[in-house]
Amino acid sequence: MEASSNLASKNQHQHVTKDTEKRITPTLVACRPTWFDVHYKINPWMRPLEWEKNSGTLSEKAGTGWEKMRHAFEKLGFTVLLVEPAQGLPDLVFTANAAVVLDGRVLLSRFRFQERQGEEAHFKTFFEDLLKQGTVKEVASLPEGLAQEGAGDCIWDPVRKLFWAGHGPRSDQRATTYIREFFGREVVPLSLSTTEFYHLDVSMCPLSKGHVMYYPGAFSEASQRAIEERVGPELVLPLNREDADLFALNAVNFGDKIVMSACTKDLEQKLNDLGYEIVRVPVEVFNLAGGSAWCLILRLDLESNTA
Ligand code: ARG
Repeated sequence: MEASSNLASKNQHQHVTKDTEKRITPTLVACRPTWFDVHYKINPWMRPLEWEKNSGTLSEKAGTGWEKMRHAFEKLGFTVLLVEPAQGLPDLVFTANAAVVLDGRVLLSRFRFQERQGEEAHFKTFFEDLLKQGTVKEVASLPEGLAQEGAGDCIWDPVRKLFWAGHGPRSDQRATTYIREFFGREVVPLSLSTTEFYHLDVSMCPLSKGHVMYYPGAFSEASQRAIEERVGPELVLPLNREDADLFALNAVNFGDKIVMSACTKDLEQKLNDLGYEIVRVPVEVFNLAGGSAWCLILRLDLESNTA
């Protein structure tokens, strides 16, 4: 495992914020795309034939783009823990799907499709090692038979102090109830109604100042209303299809920075006007598997008591 001891010791380092409140060092989990490819199709974005035609160039692009992304996160102050890549598990790079993590408590995923189920044991070993090192506090599993694809379908909103949880294509609605019981936090279940926007993290992105970007077409009407009512007219940012197709919602917001691979000029301007700055990372090759920046990482440092 590359989650080596020097990372664990770095991770013990804590800094003290102005209000003398202790915060964990920003930490995330990622997986180098050594064995990344697109050889099966479990979402409409996946194009195995296109990959096959150009696999050499695309693999190289994946490697260099991913390294740049990793550097961008390190520059923002993140410690990056690495899961060891595994041959035959190309989607292991999408570490957001490994688990839901809050307050150091890890709830491991169960994947809908057999193509990804082999990742479960791999992530379990990885997190159990982190538990032994004291990097996380608890590692738990969902009840058998309940599908839930981690932070891909369960997004912590640090402003409202709740989870937005998607269900439908990949995660079962019953899992949203389990998440509420497990973490003891409010969970807003949202029904995803298309196959393109198969995970919540390609459909919605809550931001640090309370804004929530989302693509209305991804959700059932009732869920669109739930988002609009919860967030309020001042703070909802409905995106158009063009930005949704660029995976602008699959972005990682950290303070006033938004790490993403692409969006329209209009959206960038709007976000700048609201006081956010976009940090571009060249990971668009992962769109060929249906993913981008958010799903290539999993944050371990989210806490329920801090904004
Ligand atoms: N090919 C992967 C799948 O279909 C992509 C997952 C991307 N992850 C995400 N959280 N959106 O499962």
